[in-house]
Amino acid sequence: MVSRSAFGFIGFVFLSLVWVSHGGITSEFVRKVEKTIDMPLDSDVFRVPHGYNAPQQVHITQGDHEGAGVIVSWVTPSEPGSSVVLYGTAENKRVFHAKGKVTTYRFFNYTSGFIHHCTIRHLKFDTLYFYEVGIGMSPRQFWFRTPPKPGPDVPYTFGLIGDLGQSYDSNTTLSHYEANPKGQAVLFVGDLSYADNYPNHDNARWDTWARFVERSVAYQSWIWTAGNHEIDFAPEIGETKPFKPFTHRYRTPYRASDSTSPLWYSIKRASAYIIVLSSYSAYGKYTPQFKWLEEEFPKVNRSETPWLIVLMHSPWYNSYNYHYMEGETMRVMYEPWFVQNKVDVVFAGHVHAYERSERVSNIAYNIVNGKCSPVSDESAPVYITIGDGGNLEGLATNMSEPQPKYSAYREASFGHAIFDIKNRTHAYYGWHRNQDGAAVVADSMWFYNRYWHSVPESS
Ligand SMILES: *[C@@H]1O[C@H](CO)[C@@H](O)[C@H](O)[C@H]1NC(C)=O
Ligand SMILES: *[C@@H]1O[C@H](CO)[C@@H](O)[C@H](O)[C@H]1NC(C)=O
Ligand SMILES: *[C@@H]1O[C@H](CO)[C@@H](O)[C@H](O)[C@H]1NC(C)=O
Ligand SMILES: *[C@@H]1O[C@H](CO)[C@@H](O)[C@H](O)[C@H]1NC(C)=O
Ligand SMILES: *[C@@H]1O[C@H](CO)[C@@H](O)[C@H](O)[C@H]1NC(C)=O
Ligand SMILES: [Fe+2]
Repeated sequence: MVSRSAFGFIGFVFLSLVWVSHGGITSEFVRKVEKTIDMPLDSDVFRVPHGYNAPQQVHITQGDHEGAGVIVSWVTPSEPGSSVVLYGTAENKRVFHAKGKVTTYRFFNYTSGFIHHCTIRHLKFDTLYFYEVGIGMSPRQFWFRTPPKPGPDVPYTFGLIGDLGQSYDSNTTLSHYEANPKGQAVLFVGDLSYADNYPNHDNARWDTWARFVERSVAYQSWIWTAGNHEIDFAPEIGETKPFKPFTHRYRTPYRASDSTSPLWYSIKRASAYIIVLSSYSAYGKYTPQFKWLEEEFPKVNRSETPWLIVLMHSPWYNSYNYHYMEGETMRVMYEPWFVQNKVDVVFAGHVHAYERSERVSNIAYNIVNGKCSPVSDESAPVYITIGDGGNLEGLATNMSEPQPKYSAYREASFGHAIFDIKNRTHAYYGWHRNQDGAAVVADSMWFYNRYWHSVPESS
């Protein structure tokens, strides 16, 4: 086994010679230790909208490869009603319409509401649209802004949220993200509702989660990654189809990137090319995900989209004593590609804490040469664990000691991050812990693009 955290003495001496940066930081921040508990069912954030069969759980995500499409989804509780979305560029002139489809599913003894998905295509880039759902019964209105047309110097700001759940801390994280008004779309790294922590995976908690986050995701696209809490595999109650609730409720534009599964896909958004992977689908050689990713990298045109971002749930570089080595087999399969293709940054979740790595790779090992420790590598991505959304399972606080050299900063606090692309060479990254004011950055870094400006960031 390749052990990334087993720094043998020889490896340590070797790394001390090649490592350019100063040692990593384990934050000294002291937080109030409180139990993380879910908001009760009668909480304000779970309120059902007024009106007979009013659409609820409204959410949007990108609906095509370029950013000119949007998938609008919502649930009607009592009867299907209309699957039409009315939309337009002025609030009182929603002159266009698109018709979606409605689906339902059962999970053990739970029956879902009527889940609508409607893809709107060929929108104008960088344009404010108003839209309406629930036509003919209890209509509700929302709006969104499409991203700018993909291009190398288009500024764009992503929010990063992971492992959110529906606790009081989850609400603080989301409120904090909203108070930090720069985020234009959320890159969500998996583990949405944590409904599966309830008896029989009580799918009513999928509904409450979607009502809770509607206040953000009805107005800006959240880009979905599947986590382990999306699997909902429960043979003990006869539920043997993995990802059933997630795939019924959340759509992704996977066909637009020639993927054969909604669990892995890519999109372009402004100056970024985003590849979403599934830690819980087969990824070994010859598997659909492997073959797709192999063909995906050559399609990335850094002259059009300089920033290459990968999302996955289970982190490859993680120095907490939680989920130890869970990302290791995928790392062994795919890390050489990430280095060859100069991925700028990888965002993952799963570990309920925050961590940022140095630019490192660990791809030299060939079973017999002993080169099994991460080394500094300017072609490698920065790995960021942002699984600190605040779900009911609480914080991961136990870290491996000493802090591995590849770990630049780590802290067991809830929060979110912002990846703020300025142009083809520069992006400002900041992590915000929930205890601080919205404008306060607890960890930050200027990213230099690996394709256009591949110089060490610490210099
Ligand atoms: C489902 O089954 C559980 C356990 O038997 C029960 O507590 C719950 O009320 C049932 N829910 C529905 C919707 O029937
Ligand atoms: C959640 O946060 C919002 C906005 O900060 C607040 O209005 C609401 O009361 C909070 N709800 C709960 C249950 O904490
Ligand atoms: C890459 O993108 C640039 C800028 O949009 C374009 O001029 C060029 O033709 C593209 N290259 C390929 C191989 O498609
Ligand atoms: C932290 O994790 C290590 C390794 O798994 C374990 O030996 C230790 O008991 C844990 N410490 C605490 C306080 O849980
Ligand atoms: C790119 O953005 C950075 C940070 O804002 C700025 O310093 C730099 O001059 C910009 N580059 C160009 C070519 O405008
Ligand atoms: Fe997870």
